[in-house]
Amino acid sequence: MTPPEYEYLRKLLKDQSGLDLSTDKQYLIESRLLPLSRVCGLSGISDLVQTMKAGSASVIAQVVEAMTTNETFFFRDKVPFDHFRDTIMPEMLKERASRKSVRIWCAAGSTGQEPYSLAMCLKEMGPRLAGWRIEIVATDLSREVLEKSRAGIYSQFEVQRGLPIQMLVKHFRQTGEFWQVNAEIRAMVQHRHLNLLHDFSQLGIFDVVFCRNVLIYFDQDTKINIFNRLARTTGPDGFLVLGAAETVVGLTETFKPCPERRGLYRPHDPHAARASAVATAPRLAAVAGF
Ligand SMILES: C[S@@+](CC[C@H](N)C(=O)[O-])C[C@H]1O[C@@H](n2cnc3c(N)ncnc32)[C@H](O)[C@@H]1O
Repeated sequence: MTPPEYEYLRKLLKDQSGLDLSTDKQYLIESRLLPLSRVCGLSGISDLVQTMKAGSASVIAQVVEAMTTNETFFFRDKVPFDHFRDTIMPEMLKERASRKSVRIWCAAGSTGQEPYSLAMCLKEMGPRLAGWRIEIVATDLSREVLEKSRAGIYSQFEVQRGLPIQMLVKHFRQTGEFWQVNAEIRAMVQHRHLNLLHDFSQLGIFDVVFCRNVLIYFDQDTKINIFNRLARTTGPDGFLVLGAAETVVGLTETFKPCPERRGLYRPHDPHAARASAVATAPRLAAVAGF
C-alpha cells in the first residue's frame, strides 16, 4: 500500500465510521483488507482503493465494516451489569412506577452479548417487573454483527466467555455445536442499523444508554459531538454507561460521573435534558411485556 493509499483509507474511515487511525496502522489495514480484497475478487489493497475511488458503494461499505472491531462477550467487565441490577433498575422501579416502562439502548451492541446480558438480568428480576413494558434496542454500524445478534447463536467458546453456567442452562438451547438464546430473551431485543456519527434522535428518549467500547476508537471532537447528542436522547433522570477505558471527564459537561459507580454517568442538567425529552419516544416494534 502506498502512503497516498493509506491516507485515502484513513480519511475515508474517519469520515464514514469515526475510526481514528494513527499514521502507523498500515499493518492493521493490511490484516483486515487483504482478505477482503480477495473476497471481492481484487488483487490487493491498491486494487481495492481504485474500486473505492471509482465509487463502488458496496465495496466502501464492506471496507468500513471490515475495519470495525467487534470484540465483545457476555457480562463484559461484570461491574456495569452489577450497576444495572443494583443501582439502575432499582431506581427505575421506583421512579418509573407510575408509567411502568423502561427504554434501554445498546448503542454499539455488536454480536449481541451485551443486549442479551441485559435481557437476562431483567428476566432474573422476575415478578418485580410484572406488568412493565421493557424495550431493549441494540444498534450497530456493522450489518454483519447485527445479523449474528438477531440470530442469537453462539459457539461453545463464546458462551464460555463471561456467561454463568446457570444462565446458559436457563436461557439457551443447544443446537449441535452451538447455543441459541431462547426465543423469549431474543424477543426482548430489537435490532437496528445505526451509525453513531449520524442523527439518532429518531430513536426517541432512553432511560438507560449502554455505549461501551466504541468511543475509544474516535477522536476527541467526535466523542464530544456524540456525548452532546447522547445527552439529548437520555432521559432527565436516566443513566449512561461507558466502557472501562472511556469517560466524559475533560470532554463534556453534559454528563456527570456517579460517585463510587465506575463507568456510570447521569445527565448533568436535568432541566435542559427534560426540555429535550418532551419529544415523545417512538414506539418500536418489539416491546417485552413482563
Ligand atoms: C468493541 S465492540 C463493543 C461491543 C459492546 N458494546 C461491548 O462493550 O462489548 C464496538 C462495536 O462498535 C461498532 N461501531 C464502530 N463504529 C461505529 C459507529 N460509528 N456507529 C455505530 N457503531 C459503531 C462496531 O461495529 C462494533 O460492533
